[in-house]
Amino acid sequence: MHIHVTDQSGTRHTLEALEGFRVMEIIRDWGLDIKAECGGGCACATCHVHVAPDWTDRLYPMQTEEEDMLDAAFDVRDNSRLSCQLLMSEELDGLEVTLAPGTQRGDREAA
Ligand code: FES
Repeated sequence: MHIHVTDQSGTRHTLEALEGFRVMEIIRDWGLDIKAECGGGCACATCHVHVAPDWTDRLYPMQTEEEDMLDAAFDVRDNSRLSCQLLMSEELDGLEVTLAPGTQRGDREAA
């Protein structure tokens, strides 16, 4: 299984993905720049991605905590999701996402 991830500079990466892992973990473990500050606890929004239009309806629906957290993110769109809330499965083979602004490790809210 694979996912396709476009990073903050516009480079598209194809990453091997294992079932049961969070999409955020896959992105992080392959060394892409994702802050994911809270480590997957749905408490930071620094794992924010924009999901390709073909894929939005195929994802597990958003829960309230994810919606609330996304309210605090930058550049939130209809296709915004927190990648730590997306669990890899066969159905998501080929998933296409783009890392949203504000997800880089060096980004400002470090202070
Ligand atoms: S890693 Fe913090 S909300 Fe996803």
